[in-house]
Amino acid sequence: MNAPIRVAITGAAGNIGYALLWRIASGDCFGADQPVILQLLEIPPGMERLNGVIMELQDSAFGLVHGIVGTSDPAVAFKDADAVFLVGSRPRSKDMDRADLVKANGPIFVGQGNAINDNAKKTVKVITVGNPCNTNCLIANANAKDLDDSCFTAMTRLDQNRAAGQLAVKAGTPVVNVQDVFIWGNHADTMYPDTSRCTINGEAHGLDDEWLQGEFLKTVATRGKAIIVARGASSAASAANAAVDHMHDWWSGSNGRIVSMALVSQGWYGVPKGLVFSFPVIVSADGVVTVVEDIDVGEFARDKIAQNVAALSGEREAVSDLL
Ligand code: NAD
Ligand code: LMR
Repeated sequence: MNAPIRVAITGAAGNIGYALLWRIASGDCFGADQPVILQLLEIPPGMERLNGVIMELQDSAFGLVHGIVGTSDPAVAFKDADAVFLVGSRPRSKDMDRADLVKANGPIFVGQGNAINDNAKKTVKVITVGNPCNTNCLIANANAKDLDDSCFTAMTRLDQNRAAGQLAVKAGTPVVNVQDVFIWGNHADTMYPDTSRCTINGEAHGLDDEWLQGEFLKTVATRGKAIIVARGASSAASAANAAVDHMHDWWSGSNGRIVSMALVSQGWYGVPKGLVFSFPVIVSADGVVTVVEDIDVGEFARDKIAQNVAALSGEREAVSDLL
């Protein structure tokens, strides 16, 4: 057994939190030999619900859980954190785009970026889930002045998993046989699921561009809204699952596979420095994230990347007072 690590989760009494905590506690995220101390943040009106969640966690008697802290103080939640899940924020309703949330949710990430900076480990791994997650991540990173850009990521793994699911259905094969599809850009309708390196059943996929650039792209890009319309609430279990996948691969490596992470751009593929943009990455077993820099970007993909750069530049402009 390793020494316990400290894992902070914001919005822990919310819908995603309720699915996420049990996956972390069971060892799915950090491994079966990695104990965790859960540091759970809620706003004061959520504290009673959080107490109920903590009671249920205790009643689950997970061997890997070596402590649970419930608090409404970010300084306590992020104290010495090794990993942080920034989930706490408002979801959209069916008549909104994710970017419409930035005015309501953006300010949350100013204080939390500051508190992570002042309290978490300097090596902390932060995943931003709360929407609009790319720009909320940008805000948190901008307010964590002493931490390296590489500490901050946003989640596009749900989009990658959605793409893999659609490809598996199309090919009539279990999803495990779909590899190396990844997402460019923003967790928004402009995102681009790229299949240029994708294999299905170990071979180049052979699917036609008309379907890939039409129905497939539209289904993946608008899946979040489709779920809100069907369920009356935004995706929660699949979002928690994707957050576990993202952090699992960041913590333990992607085993040579290409996965999607929104990173603070260092200029890769001409994406302006500082935008939080989803790239294809490979993660080493010791957690070093490397952008795959030799993707052959054709005209369609180039155009999509440009659309995402324009959208994210606009979002950055809209929150300039928070940076
Ligand atoms: P929810 O409303 O069920 O839960 C959110 C929780 O956050 C609530 O308990 C609330 O009290 C808490 N909260 C609000 N402000 C907070 C703050 N400042 N500090 C700590 N906690 C705070 O929502 P949910 O379904 O869990 O979704 C959470 C967020 O995740 C939403 O913004 C949603 O749009 C986003 N989301 C992102 C993805 C993705 O792929 N990136 C997928 C699904 C949902
Ligand atoms: C999703 O993709 O399911 C989430 O980002 C929720 C949403 O608002 O679409």
